[in-house]
Amino acid sequence: MNDEKYWNNTYTEDLKKYKADFLEDNWMEKYKDIICKVNNKNAIDIGCGLGQDTNWLMKNGFKVISCDISSVALNKLKDLYPDAETMRLDVSDGLPFKDASFGLINANLSLHYFTMQTTNKIFEDIKRVLTPQGLFIGRMNSTKNDYVNSNSREIEKNFYFDTHNGKYSRLFDKEQFDELFSNWKVLVLKETETVRLERKKYTWEFIVQNNL
Ligand SMILES: C[S@@+](CC[C@H](N)C(=O)[O-])C[C@H]1O[C@@H](n2cnc3c(N)ncnc32)[C@H](O)[C@@H]1O
Repeated sequence: MNDEKYWNNTYTEDLKKYKADFLEDNWMEKYKDIICKVNNKNAIDIGCGLGQDTNWLMKNGFKVISCDISSVALNKLKDLYPDAETMRLDVSDGLPFKDASFGLINANLSLHYFTMQTTNKIFEDIKRVLTPQGLFIGRMNSTKNDYVNSNSREIEKNFYFDTHNGKYSRLFDKEQFDELFSNWKVLVLKETETVRLERKKYTWEFIVQNNL
């Protein structure tokens, strides 16, 4: 629900403060065996940001379309990885791709900004563009994070609007995943601790398979 202007400002400010690799925590490496088994090596990186995951996927043999709402992020990604193919889009408008055209879709910390209705719609769209047996992988922020403060307004369960910085964000618990992944084959669903932007955070890592 945060628009392009919000994300362009965020990246412009973050790039002044940190090096471009400030978000790298290489979470996919430990799942390399599962991820690289995918036959169809066409992939999308949704909410790719500066492209750390895109780079990992390209290095591991995937042909990636890096998608993001922020043109600032995509321009920086192109500087860092000139071979990358980028596409500016708002994932909540629907994915502009044919059915069953990708073997892998990654969404790393990029799908927790929406109402549950929109989140469900995005998950259905991801399923539509994945090949049968294709993998949907990613991470979401966990309810274990202490992000809720006096500026947070709960819009729906676990979905907040921060009146101080104007950011919408959703936190996930196991129950929500059980619903969201009820028609997927769950290969990995694990709550882990990591560090991003010099801050400890808890995320859910997931790898689910289209079981069409
Ligand atoms: C926390 S960042 C994660 C970026 C990257 N995946 C990473 O791990 O560094 C969230 C990303 O989602 C993108 N994003 C937010 N809302 C979006 C939307 N509606 N459509 C596409 N991308 C979106 C933001 O621009 C941002 O790059």
